[in-house]
Amino acid sequence: MKFVTAVIKPLKFTEVKAALSRAGISGLTVSEVSGIGRQKGETEVYRGAEYTANMLPKIKLEIAVSDAFADTVIAILKDAASTGEIGDGKVFVFDLAEAHRVRTGEQGDLAL
Ligand SMILES: Nc1ncnc2c1ncn2[C@@H]1O[C@H](COP(=O)(O)OP(=O)(O)OP(=O)(O)O)[C@@H](O)[C@H]1O
Ligand SMILES: [Mg+2]
Repeated sequence: MKFVTAVIKPLKFTEVKAALSRAGISGLTVSEVSGIGRQKGETEVYRGAEYTANMLPKIKLEIAVSDAFADTVIAILKDAASTGEIGDGKVFVFDLAEAHRVRTGEQGDLAL
């Protein structure tokens, strides 16, 4: 299993979530976060306003997936989150050792 974390632009969240849903991904965790990339002082546009402050609002997604599905999820994230502009975000991928569904006790892929 893999644990995929993506930091994306808030305006892309609806599109990303829909694309994941079409691919059969329903379980995910979403957080509103602040972040900084490599531009630091450079200006980035967010909802029409130009931000020159260092920290910008982003959405963080966390998705646990089977190994067989990981590449598909990563490709969807990269495609659906892209505007082609700076600040489009990052996808980080971790090996996931265990998953457990609390209600049933199912483990591994069955728990996802
Ligand atoms: N190395 C990193 N580690 C953890 N989080 C990061 C890292 N780089 C970027 N992020 C997160 O991703 C968000 C978006 O980063 P961003 O897309 O601006 O990266 P970048 O490297 O500056 O690329 P670009 O040149 O396309 O803007 C940041 O606001 C931050 O939350
Ligand atoms: Mg950047």
